[in-house]
Amino acid sequence: MTDNNPAAPQRGMWSSRLAFILAATGSAVGLGNIWKFPYVTGENGGGAFVMVYLLCIAIIGIPIMMAEVFIGRNGRHNPIASFRLVAERNLASPAWRVSAIVGVLAAFIILSFYSVIGGWAAAYIGHAATGDFTGQSADAIGTLFGDLLASPGVLLAWHTLFMALIIVVVARGLKSGLERAVNILMPALFVLLLITVGYAATTDGFGQAVSFLFTPDFSALTVDGVLIALGHAFFTLSLGMAIMMAYGSYLSRDVSIGRTAVTVSIMDTVVALLAGLAIFPVVFANGLEAGAGPGLIFQTLPLAFGQMPMGGLFGTLFFVLLLFAAWTSGISLLEPVVEWVEENLSVGRSGSAVLVGGACWLLGVASILSLNEWSGFAPLGMFERFAGMTIFDLLDFFTANVMLPLSGLLTAVFVGWFVAKESLKVDLALEGGSFTLWYNLIRYVTPIAVAIVFAYNLLA
Ligand code: PHE
Repeated sequence: MTDNNPAAPQRGMWSSRLAFILAATGSAVGLGNIWKFPYVTGENGGGAFVMVYLLCIAIIGIPIMMAEVFIGRNGRHNPIASFRLVAERNLASPAWRVSAIVGVLAAFIILSFYSVIGGWAAAYIGHAATGDFTGQSADAIGTLFGDLLASPGVLLAWHTLFMALIIVVVARGLKSGLERAVNILMPALFVLLLITVGYAATTDGFGQAVSFLFTPDFSALTVDGVLIALGHAFFTLSLGMAIMMAYGSYLSRDVSIGRTAVTVSIMDTVVALLAGLAIFPVVFANGLEAGAGPGLIFQTLPLAFGQMPMGGLFGTLFFVLLLFAAWTSGISLLEPVVEWVEENLSVGRSGSAVLVGGACWLLGVASILSLNEWSGFAPLGMFERFAGMTIFDLLDFFTANVMLPLSGLLTAVFVGWFVAKESLKVDLALEGGSFTLWYNLIRYVTPIAVAIVFAYNLLA
């Protein structure tokens, strides 16, 4: 069967279902799993937060991922155009595409600061390789991280490199380079994580880490924590950013969207939990602070690498893989925006990649300065809710907690209530009971859950 839509520009196709799974997993698995999940879990008290997060993945994340891939594959255009086409085919208002517009904008904003953090990973490859962690105290390693954040020039250099890496791949078109890279990188990342967990299991903090992650203490959970868990479920699965629509637009018709989305989500969740099991034992064994915030993995893992045999080698490999995980995610953030620019302005694929990547790079500079020169600058400081939040904090907060859930909510309502049930049945290809389950989740549970969290967010 041919998928070619005569109105669509020349579009590539994933070479197999596995290629899509790896690319989507490459997008999903990134800094969110290895850097952000452990530190937000630490800041929000552990087990109870993890349970809420898992629940968000199951009843909100997975159903929305299926809906997004459905829209992409059904529309076969850039996310905004796909949304409009699917709406028209179902006799719904083309205004629904605002969901994809919010998503594409969010992808752009997120990439600006994601690239800065990707740069930290790149910087740490150098530190690991030259033995900077060997035998160091927790204090010395903390200072190393503090010094990095205090140096705008160094941060800028790594941010520039990271953004360039992304632009190069996206400019070439996503298929051959990206597919080949994720084929090797994703299994390698997995193996390395297992080795790190294996090491962590030998430290005396392991038992404490397991109970921290898996024994829920609901008194440690705040309403804010629930909001953050939901935002993180979106972030970690790359939802609400039009990415799964963009990737879905290259997916062959014979693939079951349902089973594929579940596979991707499970792999993403497993990586996040493994990262927690790799990091918290080291935190507890060394008496570090679990709620240390964004610096957590840059201060705990180096400590472990500095003490284990061949730590220089493992440390280097680990940060290389962290960089690659961030790289495949960064590519997926640029892709939807570039697709849109390419299909709307006549600057070609490379032109679009350079244009969008360049603009994103510029915005990233504001995040870099938030870490040092502008660290006291809180643009929305007059509101108590945002007191003390830098530009970097605000971009992170508004994308993860407002834009992604908003885009996801609109997508859920649109797909659940405005798309013909028959066409969903065919495309998702879920067996009887699972389809009904999904359909009820996307119509009722997902929108209501997201709306409640939203309402709280606006009223609190
Ligand atoms: N899901 C990625 C992660 O967990 C981050 C990401 C967000 C990637 C949005 C692409 C889009 O790191």
